[in-house]
Amino acid sequence: MKILVTGGTGYIGSHTCVELLKNGYEVVIVDNLYNSSVEILDKIEKITGIKPVFYQTDILDKEGLEKVFTENKIDAVIHFAGYKAVGESVAKPLTYYENNISGSINLYQLMKKYCVNSLVFSSSATVYGDDFEVPFKEEYGLGTTTNPYGTSKKMNEMIITDMSKADPELSCVLLRYFNPIGAHESGLIGEIPNGIPNNLVPYIAQVVSGQRGFLRIWGNDYDTPDGTGVRDYIHVVDLARAHVKAIDYAKEHKGTEVINIGTGKGYSVMEVLHAYEKACGKKIPYQIMERRPGDIATCYADTEKAEKLLNFKAEYNIDRMCEDSYRFTVMQSK
Ligand code: NAD
Ligand code: UFG
Repeated sequence: MKILVTGGTGYIGSHTCVELLKNGYEVVIVDNLYNSSVEILDKIEKITGIKPVFYQTDILDKEGLEKVFTENKIDAVIHFAGYKAVGESVAKPLTYYENNISGSINLYQLMKKYCVNSLVFSSSATVYGDDFEVPFKEEYGLGTTTNPYGTSKKMNEMIITDMSKADPELSCVLLRYFNPIGAHESGLIGEIPNGIPNNLVPYIAQVVSGQRGFLRIWGNDYDTPDGTGVRDYIHVVDLARAHVKAIDYAKEHKGTEVINIGTGKGYSVMEVLHAYEKACGKKIPYQIMERRPGDIATCYADTEKAEKLLNFKAEYNIDRMCEDSYRFTVMQSK
């Protein structure tokens, strides 16, 4: 079975390609290398023994994208390609809507034209907004998003749901990721942030490697056990495994399902910091700052649906996530 992976050289995409190849799937990657590099293909080959077919193509280039469909008999699509920086999306909404919405529509139109009926889409816990009680359950539906990035995820969910209502042959799985962190155990692939990291673990990794002086903790006066924000961190390899399960599910079921992918457990910023200190064997300097605008106190998933429908349960704990992140950071600096 041949899977088209858009954004396949990116952080989550590269780990997913590894898991797909390990499970006997053929992989065709489309990526414009905006936020990744071609060397990832060699790393994927080093891990799996297989080099995926690669097209350096922008999903906004519909003609270029069509070539991928004419040259390959695609059976299913996993759609990762998109921009993901929340703050940047506030400053450049049209850029975000163009890439994340127009790009996606190009892809969905070509899927229709070439009778590709299975789709797994990268959504985010951000679509719950601040409207609901934790743990977030899929049945809550879509909340009020607070930035164009989040809105682009919500709009994609709505577009796919409408497509699926209009075409009963479609099988779509919308995966709402919580907070993916960590790296492959080989240390060969992981998250390489562009510029100053916005996310917690990439920032901690840069403090540990000496690129930044200290971690800024955005507020310690939240209504959480230690006052710092609580999130559902999930190992990126667990998340990648969930995509293989979603593809297997899509093969057997029609319609659209929304499924949370997290561990169901929340950790505070302080807890993550301490787990990372354990992994790297040194103290990590930090300062408590004002709250970051737009942050919520606590976010974690209800994971029952993923267990029931996909038979998916995350395996790795926070210690392992930090150990793998640290190993990747060390290997990167060599
Ligand atoms: P990433 O930036 O590492 O990967 C995205 C890839 O898509 C990159 O390789 C980039 O070059 C490519 N890309 C972007 N625009 C493209 C275009 N127009 N044409 C072709 N390729 C394009 O990001 P990631 O962390 O791996 O995230 C993957 C997906 O998961 C994204 O859609 C993101 O919004 C979603 N997501 C990520 C997180 C997270 O915390 N990392 C959380 C929830 C959802
Ligand atoms: N944090 C710090 N210092 C930092 C970075 C983060 O204290 O330098 C704190 C935040 O305040 C928050 C926690 O660490 O309490 C996690 O923050 P991240 O930025 O790592 O993650 P978020 O939960 O804010 O956002 C992530 C993705 C979004 C996505 C959202 C919901 O980055 O794209 O999860 O899925 F929308």
